[in-house]
Amino acid sequence: MLVTLIRRYARPYLPYIVAVIIFQLASTIAALYLPSLNAQIIDEGVARGDTDYIWRTGGVMLGVAVIQVATAVAGVYFGSKAAMAFGRDLRRGVFRKVTSFSAKDVNVFGAPTLITRGTNDVQQVQMLVLLGLNFMVATPIMCIGGIFMALREDLNLSWLVWVSVPLLVVVVGYLVVRLMPLFRSMQKKIDRLNGILREQIIGIRVVRAFVREPHETQRFGAANQELTDVSLKIGALFVLMFPAIGMILHVSTAAVLWFGGQRVDAGEMQVGSLTAFLQYLLQILIAVMMGTFMAMMIPRASVCADRIGEVLDVEPSIHEPLTPTVPAGRSGRVEFRNVSFAYPGAEAPVLSNISFTAEPGQTVAIIGSTGAGKTSLLALLPRLYDAASGEVLLDGVPVTNLARSDITTRVAMVPQRPYLFSGTIEHNLRFGRPEATDEELWDALTTAQAEDFVREKSQGLGARISQGGTNVSGGQRQRLSIARALVTRPKVFLFDDSFSALDVATDARLRRALKAKTADATVIIVGQRVSTIADADQILVLDKGQIVDRGTHEELLDSSSTYREIVESQLSTEAAA
Ligand code: CTP
Ligand code: MG
Repeated sequence: MLVTLIRRYARPYLPYIVAVIIFQLASTIAALYLPSLNAQIIDEGVARGDTDYIWRTGGVMLGVAVIQVATAVAGVYFGSKAAMAFGRDLRRGVFRKVTSFSAKDVNVFGAPTLITRGTNDVQQVQMLVLLGLNFMVATPIMCIGGIFMALREDLNLSWLVWVSVPLLVVVVGYLVVRLMPLFRSMQKKIDRLNGILREQIIGIRVVRAFVREPHETQRFGAANQELTDVSLKIGALFVLMFPAIGMILHVSTAAVLWFGGQRVDAGEMQVGSLTAFLQYLLQILIAVMMGTFMAMMIPRASVCADRIGEVLDVEPSIHEPLTPTVPAGRSGRVEFRNVSFAYPGAEAPVLSNISFTAEPGQTVAIIGSTGAGKTSLLALLPRLYDAASGEVLLDGVPVTNLARSDITTRVAMVPQRPYLFSGTIEHNLRFGRPEATDEELWDALTTAQAEDFVREKSQGLGARISQGGTNVSGGQRQRLSIARALVTRPKVFLFDDSFSALDVATDARLRRALKAKTADATVIIVGQRVSTIADADQILVLDKGQIVDRGTHEELLDSSSTYREIVESQLSTEAAA
């Protein structure tokens, strides 16, 4: 998966990558050339006292050093550009994919892990690409070139290379192998800690109300301690790593000086060659170290790449038809034909054999006890879910054959738990139709009985709404979300229990105002209060996913015992209150 992702998302940045390779090649070769120039100055210039030679070679050395620095900077620049663009595109890919998910697809993963995959996991892969671009070319050339150059300086000392490099690989490799599982476990512990923290922040009121702080604190404390323990273990290994590497570097240096010194003494080697050899050895060791660190990132990044790939590979369970049918009329006629539906993984159907028709200008009301399947029924029209069998038709065309835009421009839903986005009131109201004028917004607010409280805000339409709409009351949130639906001027309105948080008087006023605004539209209302739905053209009584009775209020009072029970229970509670 790692390779696939990198190949797919790095392709547009191939020119950058080529530039990185060229610049790194240049900078590595320059870096390899420097010690040998240095040796020449010492052995030829200083030894012979040839000032001229020293100046000339020194000049060349300065030039090479400038080239080395400049090309190294350019390489890192293009490498970072490519890696960051890669990360951006990958994040965008994950985001687009998740946006195309149906409610069912989101449930398969769960929201928190989708967030982690789109952010943290992408970052891990991006990091590997960044380091890869920076070291991929330089490291092997530095190793091979370094060995070659070192041997050119002195063959007799070559055994030092063959001893110190494998030693370093073994030591660093051992530590890396020990570190890997710890890193993986740390990732999981961080996930867990985030999960607990998130849950506690969201549920803080409940935690307070039930005085669960000590228990929750303890739960958090345990997860926190686990993370600390893993981090400490990692720290302990790192504490070992740096002295171990330092030790190898220093012992190698001492060995080169010791054995090289003897050869210089015996006149078999020149001092310049000795310093050059030493520098090459250090270059090789550092390159090997970097290579090992890189290798250490690969397993971690590939775990992340797999997790990202799982998201990208999902075929959204609800997709648009390839050749959408264009409906003949656009009046907003809704028809359910023998519709059955079950939630994924549930054995019993939530809805069975639902058939009804809602004509434009009509109001169809659905009433039934909680869990009867009212919300599920509404969800089928905008295709939040697809029916298992039967057909849901909009203007005579099955919704599965309609283009998405054809559905969304004609159907507006006020969900049972309305959600507002962070931003302003205005921005939320224009959600479905950005080009709506201010007058239209105020008009919708008036109808939704929300005008007064918006006018009371000093910033009016520009008043801030926090994420989810948590800084307005439940009833205000409901009315804003009704106004949001009105602004889109749809043909079909779906109100899911949208008046429940309103007092009876406001409920009545709102429905009167709505009636005028929705005269030509098809309205489907889910209601709990009989008063909310009594004047509907047709009332469907839903019980355990089936329509048990249907008719007007008067007809149902006569014919339906279930309906009579609901009415009587509400009358008696009202009387009791
Ligand atoms: N259900 C489910 N998975 C979901 C949502 C609902 O399995 N994601 C099940 C519930 O357990 C319930 C049934 O589907 O038994 C019907 O749920 P719903 O349509 O939400 O019922 P409503 O009639 O809307 O209930 P309420 O009046 O409480 O809103
Ligand atoms: Mg519901």
